Amino acid sequence: MKTAIYPGSFDPVTYGHLDIIRRAATVFDQLIISVLNNVKKIPLFSVEERVKILKEVTKDIPNVRIESFSGLLVDYASQKNVDVIVRGLRAITDFEYELQNAQTNRLLSKGKLDTMFFTTSLEYAYLSSTTVREIASFGGDITDCVPDFVSRLIYQKYGIKREAEHEQ
Ligand code: PNS
Repeated sequence: MKTAIYPGSFDPVTYGHLDIIRRAATVFDQLIISVLNNVKKIPLFSVEERVKILKEVTKDIPNVRIESFSGLLVDYASQKNVDVIVRGLRAITDFEYELQNAQTNRLLSKGKLDTMFFTTSLEYAYLSSTTVREIASFGGDITDCVPDFVSRLIYQKYGIKREAEHEQ
């Protein structure tokens, strides 16, 4: 059975992440989506909230499991006995950072841990969690970026009274 880990901040999960999740879930027998618990950053959603949101948005994908981790990805992957990492690549701007991470993880794992990249579908190439947070914080429309129930939670966090467009 081939298992892969898709690690990330997912703060919040976007349609771009969901696209990668759905496609990776068809390639691997099991996909563990793991939320990074980064103590150095103040997130919009707590790790527990992000795990709950990810569980909800992936509930129709049977071979996906949601977890969280802290510390080094190589240590977590080794604990799980997994040797493939999944990451999405949007534009060339992602490439340098992702290449560096992939190579570092290979080095740290003594060649065991490989990274497989899925190129983001064109319609989500512009999308990032940072952009979503920025738009939402000013009360802008994030309908095309995240599922409706996620957008409601994001607006709530910013104290913005705006219903998801689909429900108006
Ligand atoms: O969604 P993100 O924030 O781009 O995800 C980045 C992530 C979680 C993949 C990366 O920061 C990570 O793996 N962090 C864990 C710490 C680690 O292992 N660092 C060394 C990799 S170079």
